[in-house]
Amino acid sequence: MINRKKVLIIGASGQIGSELTPFLRNIYGADNVIASDCIFPLTSGLSESGPSCKIDATNAQDIADAVKKYDINMIFNLAAILSAKAEANPRLGWNVGIGALINCLEVAKEFNASLFTPSSIGAFGPETPHDGTPQDTIQRPKTIYGVTKVTGELLSDYYFKRFGVDTRSVRFPGIISNVTLPGGGTTDYAVEIYYAAVKNETFYCPLKAGTLLDMMYMPDALNAVVELMEANPDKLIHRNSFNVASMSFDPEKIYAEIKKYLPNFVMEYKHDEVRQTIADSWPNYMDDSCARNEWGWNPQFNLSSMTIDMLEKIKIKLEL
Ligand code: SER
Repeated sequence: MINRKKVLIIGASGQIGSELTPFLRNIYGADNVIASDCIFPLTSGLSESGPSCKIDATNAQDIADAVKKYDINMIFNLAAILSAKAEANPRLGWNVGIGALINCLEVAKEFNASLFTPSSIGAFGPETPHDGTPQDTIQRPKTIYGVTKVTGELLSDYYFKRFGVDTRSVRFPGIISNVTLPGGGTTDYAVEIYYAAVKNETFYCPLKAGTLLDMMYMPDALNAVVELMEANPDKLIHRNSFNVASMSFDPEKIYAEIKKYLPNFVMEYKHDEVRQTIADSWPNYMDDSCARNEWGWNPQFNLSSMTIDMLEKIKIKLEL
């Protein structure tokens, strides 16, 4: 069958992978989407709803074996150590981020597979214009996470231009979701705040009032991944990576939005120097017009609709 997709997801247990896996199984057929992880075990939901295997992405042979065995032609490389956690162990951040990527690029080249690897708002730094951050601009991040993301963008474009590997990527904002918690990120607070609110606990915010950051609800993030990978390559002027945005807010704004539904909810500030410094170096909001023009990016959720959905889903999940 022409255009049959056989997909490998590396990092299927993570925040994005745990939702991208069922999303892709729904689109391409459960048997055509192979879930893998090595850091965290797969949930029974993921391992029972389709094929799965164990892959250490820092070992190229593991990836090549799975690609050969399952006849893979599309790889989603979601292996990463998030920004704040990577600052505590930069070597690990580099080894996971770049080790996995270079292995995926080599395997994609050998087996003629397309490759998606997320980049991030973390690929920008303090010298980048913070308001309406352009698609093509200064990228001098000061975190090891950002260094791996910029390197990843450059390497992915290199493999496309030099070897014709079909690499594509987006610069994700903070992703907000209600299935799997992120871990060790600077934007994690925007997920944790909803759990605290539903549990009626005081939330201690690590970032200062006024710290604007781009954020995105998971359903839009999943659509972005698929729409970009399905986009007509002739229309893509850029590849690695596209700015994608849907909402930008600071702690006060999300707090006020949650309080509309839970008026007794209390947020206090508890300064986190590492996260604050990182957040201050990232964009306030990005210009994503290239993604909109080149492949039709058009997010559906804003802060208000996301908040209604998050509160409802977490309430059900926690049986409250
Ligand atoms: N959510 C990530 C982090 O905060 C950014 O891509 O590290």
